[in-house]
Amino acid sequence: MEMVVLENEPEVLMENISNKDNRDTSAAPGLKLYRCVAVSFGLLCILQIALNISLRPPLNHTNCISNSEDMTTNLTEERDELKRKLDDLKSHQNVLKSERDELKRTLNDFAHRSNNGWLYFSHSFYYISPIKKTWHDSRNDCLQREADLVIINSKEEQEFIQRWVKNLMWIGLSKRDGIWKWVDGTRLTQSLWCAGEPNNHKDSGEECGEIRGCGHDHGWNDEKCSNSNFWICEKKMAL
Ligand code: BGC
Ligand code: CA
Repeated sequence: MEMVVLENEPEVLMENISNKDNRDTSAAPGLKLYRCVAVSFGLLCILQIALNISLRPPLNHTNCISNSEDMTTNLTEERDELKRKLDDLKSHQNVLKSERDELKRTLNDFAHRSNNGWLYFSHSFYYISPIKKTWHDSRNDCLQREADLVIINSKEEQEFIQRWVKNLMWIGLSKRDGIWKWVDGTRLTQSLWCAGEPNNHKDSGEECGEIRGCGHDHGWNDEKCSNSNFWICEKKMAL
């Protein structure tokens, strides 16, 4: 019995093999489909990658252009702002230059007047003439010295001038249209007339102001403009 089984074994084996072959043959179309799908999927992936790669440069290029335009705009604005600042600095520099030149002129003038006998008091230089002239000639002399006959604005200024008084001295005071005015056109408000002055003595047409001794002090007197007097020029000069 056992021999029969053994003799039949190869047949069973063959039959099994034959059945297996048959199974393989029947599974082949599915496998092919599977392979086909896998390959297609792979190809699609490759295609996607290729597309990604091929599309990326134009996108980056667009961004670059956009960034570049932004940078250009920023730089233009910065340049314009710097130009404005430079213009401002240039005009400020011009202002400083003219201020410097003006100060240089003032300093030179200061030195010149100091060296030529002018006296300095409270932001003004004073020149006391060594000779006598009429009121108008005295004033012209002051104008030629880029000054004018003295305008006395305070008791302190009057007291300073009194220290240098040479008897009679013209000051920048005259009567115009019946009104006493200083040489700068301002009306006389605070006056230091001697007692009894101005009196237009003997109706002689006294229309110019002078400093003269009156009593123990000095004060002002109205006098004929054609008289010859010493005079005082004043040049205002604040540093
Ligand atoms: C003057 C006058 C002045 C008078 C005062 C005269 O010598 O010319 O201006 O008012 O003295 O006494
Ligand atoms: Ca008088």
